[in-house]
Amino acid sequence: MAFKLSEEFKTKAEKLCAKYPRRDAALIPLLHELQKEAGYVAEEGMDALALFLELPYSRVKAVATFYTMFNREPAGKYHLQVCRNISCHMAGAEGLLERLRAALGIAEGETTKDGLFTLSAVECLGACGSAPVMQVNDDYFENLTGEKLDVILEELKHGKYPSQK
Ligand code: FES
Repeated sequence: MAFKLSEEFKTKAEKLCAKYPRRDAALIPLLHELQKEAGYVAEEGMDALALFLELPYSRVKAVATFYTMFNREPAGKYHLQVCRNISCHMAGAEGLLERLRAALGIAEGETTKDGLFTLSAVECLGACGSAPVMQVNDDYFENLTGEKLDVILEELKHGKYPSQK
């Protein structure tokens, strides 16, 4: 059966579209909503969104695949996105990624077997002044060090969402 946008989604989407002069301007916020609802942006979701916005599927797919914040596959409970752009790179992002790969036993783009963590290396998160930066789901953790990273991981493993420092 074809994928259908939920009625709740459509109501929210109509409200969002009404905020913009043109419906297609709501594309990125709606991709966020889609991801919030399903945990990721699937092909069928993009197709349904294209129909809803009366846009070519290719345009929706181009936007969804350009931005690293949209997951193309189901992510773990905690999506760890480490910025590897220039400021974060200079401030030790590669060391953080290495630490995460070793601690979790996964590479970028993979999810741990228990479904708890997905690891990604992403482009600039727009917080270069507090590099290195990692985004966990919707929250940023800035000025990271290896030690801070270990604490965050331990807390997440024990079901405690770490406070941002
Ligand atoms: S370079 Fe990492 S947040 Fe901009």
